[in-house]
Amino acid sequence: LKYEPPTVWKYRDLLPITGNPVTIYEGGTPLYRCDRLAEKIGVKELYVKHEGLNPTGSFKDRGMTVGVSKAIELGMKTVACASTGNTSASLAIYGAKAGIPAIVLLPEGKVAMGKVAQALMHGAKVLSIRGNFDEALALVRTLCDQEKFYLLNSINPYRLEGQKTIGFEIVDQLGLKVPDRVVLPVGNAGNITAIYKGFKEFRELKITDTVPKMCGIQAEGASPIVQAIKSGAESIIPESNPETIATAIRIGDPVNAKKALNAIRESEGTAETVTDEELVQAQRDLAQLEGIGVEPASATSVAGLRKLVEAGVIGSEETVVCVTTGHLLKDPQEVIDACDRPILVDATIEAIRDVVFPK
Ligand code: F0G
Repeated sequence: LKYEPPTVWKYRDLLPITGNPVTIYEGGTPLYRCDRLAEKIGVKELYVKHEGLNPTGSFKDRGMTVGVSKAIELGMKTVACASTGNTSASLAIYGAKAGIPAIVLLPEGKVAMGKVAQALMHGAKVLSIRGNFDEALALVRTLCDQEKFYLLNSINPYRLEGQKTIGFEIVDQLGLKVPDRVVLPVGNAGNITAIYKGFKEFRELKITDTVPKMCGIQAEGASPIVQAIKSGAESIIPESNPETIATAIRIGDPVNAKKALNAIRESEGTAETVTDEELVQAQRDLAQLEGIGVEPASATSVAGLRKLVEAGVIGSEETVVCVTTGHLLKDPQEVIDACDRPILVDATIEAIRDVVFPK
């Protein structure tokens, strides 16, 4: 007997792929009801959609299963991307599964260790660029144009097609209900665009009759989308030196900015920034109140929710879904820096008792 877990391909009829998918059983992630965290934040009903439980530990796998399947369908010979880390890990694993070479460009020194490890071990050609993510993305676009490599950043529409299944699953897991809010981190702004598309498709198909208010959260040091929403501007002003502990979303010039601004405005959502301290506190709360281990960027969703509830923007009676986009073990160094060291003791029961029962 073969057990097939639910995956992105459950929604195959709504995905633009005709051939055999390149799949490692992505999607089908849990939607946790988080009552302890809800109480601390002050909302009635809070759920966390934990995308850290995908094969490579981030939501990127949903986009890559569709994107790499399309690359194969189109007969492309090489796939490539720029990445703050997770996209490169995901491209590496799906490239490996499909048996085609993957090239990834990373901003030197600004990618969490777990992500680099994945890209290397799964056999991608890993280039460390002396520059930031925005520069790496501009370069990989040129490389792909020149060499006819298949670009798999979220400019690629098939990436977003895969990621829209997060929206489908949330509706399914809530018993065909739509939450009042979906709160998530925003970097290159593909995921908020994709999830919103998913909710809109379900509404068009009359599976649901509404969409949630989309709320995008960015780190204070890398927040062009939030600035545009707050100022009412048509388009973003790129930031040339983005900086945050949440390296996954250390992005100054998001390629999907226009679509993300539209998703937020059309859904009557909002956008907010959080400081590094606020997001680390939220990371701790998720870990210690709910047993959900996430990387710093993912914790911005919960940090942002707390801020928006405090400000009265999100009401206590609302049903909220926070999307946590990546797993805790992606960035072990940040965790080690944020937590106390293990307590070193002699190998005697007395020494252990002295620590367990301090005087
Ligand atoms: N959370 C995590 C953990 C991410 O890795 C990313 C993006 C985001 C949130 C933001 O998603 O870009 O669709 O708005 N990481 C990309 C990468 C940029 O290269 O891995 P977005």
